[in-house]
Amino acid sequence: MAGAIVRGLIAANTASPEAIACIGGNDPTAANLARDTGIRAARSFAELIGSADVIVVACKPQNLADLPAEVGELTADKLIISIAAGKRLETLARIFPNARNIVRVMPNTPAQIGAGISGWCPLKPISESDRALLLYMLKAMGRAVEVAESDMDAVTAVSGSGPAYVFEFAAALREAGIQVGLPADTAALLAQETLLGAARLLARSGEAPETLRDRVTSPNGTTYAALQVLAQRDFRGLIRDAVTAARDRSIELSAET
Ligand SMILES: NC(=O)c1ccc[n+]([C@@H]2O[C@H](COP(=O)([O-])OP(=O)(O)OC[C@H]3O[C@@H](n4cnc5c(N)ncnc54)[C@H](OP(=O)(O)O)[C@@H]3O)[C@@H](O)[C@H]2O)c1
Repeated sequence: MAGAIVRGLIAANTASPEAIACIGGNDPTAANLARDTGIRAARSFAELIGSADVIVVACKPQNLADLPAEVGELTADKLIISIAAGKRLETLARIFPNARNIVRVMPNTPAQIGAGISGWCPLKPISESDRALLLYMLKAMGRAVEVAESDMDAVTAVSGSGPAYVFEFAAALREAGIQVGLPADTAALLAQETLLGAARLLARSGEAPETLRDRVTSPNGTTYAALQVLAQRDFRGLIRDAVTAARDRSIELSAET
């Protein structure tokens, strides 16, 4: 995720590599990122944070506990942007008590190719200049929408976990294609491109998904036959239950962290 942000910022000319620095834990991910992108690999948190204005926290939620105590002082008056899943603003405020503001962000994996959607919420009302800085950062990962923190578990369930539902649907469509007689690679290609094309059409047309669905559905036709089966098996109820389960698990995990 950190790599996606860094590459996005550099590709969009929002920040030069010299203006970005990173630090990691015990694995060489951060060092590799610095080597591959030309950003600076800091040797200490003092070096990393000293001259920085915006700090992006992109370690795993459980690694936040490993941050040295000095980080609390070092981040005084800085803008903190945390993408650590499930870490609430009140928890982040204990780790970064002197920050000028803290923003909690829930991105999703298409962020890796700049096609993500992030939900975000600030600890305190965000200044215009910090909002601009934040949106620059988030743009590197795709689109972003401001939400209430109380909605973060629902955002996690819809867009955070959402790509997995879509991948599962793509796999199911591929399997069904094979079942009705297509060669495996043809079924995989048809499933992938159908998802991609339908998603693009949905985004570009600005129409409701139901409108687009109805346009490919003639009475008693092939699509109608398929949709009848989806309705009989309560496809929408299934998705509702899946999203509710993800939302409930997100609440449980946030309480644990
Ligand atoms: N992937 C998603 O779909 C998704 C969606 C929403 C939110 N998130 C959140 O995004 C964050 C990053 O996820 P990811 O998939 O990118 O994880 P990741 O690939 O494991 O990256 C974690 C990074 O944290 C660094 N790190 C570990 N311990 C550290 C420490 N003590 N101090 C500073 N840096 C440390 C690691 O550096 P080294 O490897 O160099 O040690 C690594 O670069 C997580 O908090 C996750 O909850 C992810």
